[in-house]
Amino acid sequence: MKKIEAIVRPSKVEELKEALAKLEVRGMTIFDVMGRGLQRGEKQYYRGKEHTVDLFPKVKVELVCRDHWVERIIEVILKVCATGEIGDGKIFVYPLEEIVRIRTGERGEAAL
Ligand SMILES: Nc1ncnc2c1ncn2[C@@H]1O[C@H](COP(=O)(O)OP(=O)(O)OP(=O)(O)O)[C@@H](O)[C@H]1O
Ligand SMILES: [Mg+2]
Repeated sequence: MKKIEAIVRPSKVEELKEALAKLEVRGMTIFDVMGRGLQRGEKQYYRGKEHTVDLFPKVKVELVCRDHWVERIIEVILKVCATGEIGDGKIFVYPLEEIVRIRTGERGEAAL
C-alpha cells in the first residue's frame, strides 16, 4: 500500500475528484494548505505598501491505494493538473505501513 500526496492548484480540485472517481478511487482526504516550491516570492502591493508573497494557496489531496494503482493515479493527476506553468504542484508517494478500519478492526488492504 502507498500513500499519495498531491499538492495541486485549488482550481483543479473538482476536476481531479471527478477523474479519480472514474478510477474508483473513493477514500481521500483534502486539505487547504499554503505552500511554496522553487519560485521566489512575488512582490505585491497592498494599500501602497510592498509585500513579498512567498506562500501560495494550494490543495493537498491525500489518498491511500494498493501499490499497483500508483502509476494510474499519478497519470490522472498529471493529465488533470499539469498546465505547464510554474506552480502546478507536486506529487509525493510514501510506503504505507498499516490501515485499520476502526468500525470493524479490519486491517491492511481489507480496510481500504
Ligand atoms: N520540497 C518540498 N517539500 C514540501 N512541499 C513542497 C516542496 N516543494 C513543493 N512543495 C509543495 O508543493 C506546492 C507546489 O509547488 P510548486 O508547484 O511551486 O513546485 P516547484 O518545484 O516550484 O515547481 P514549479 O516549477 O512548477 O513551480 C508548494 O506550494 C508546496 O506546498
Ligand atoms: Mg514553484
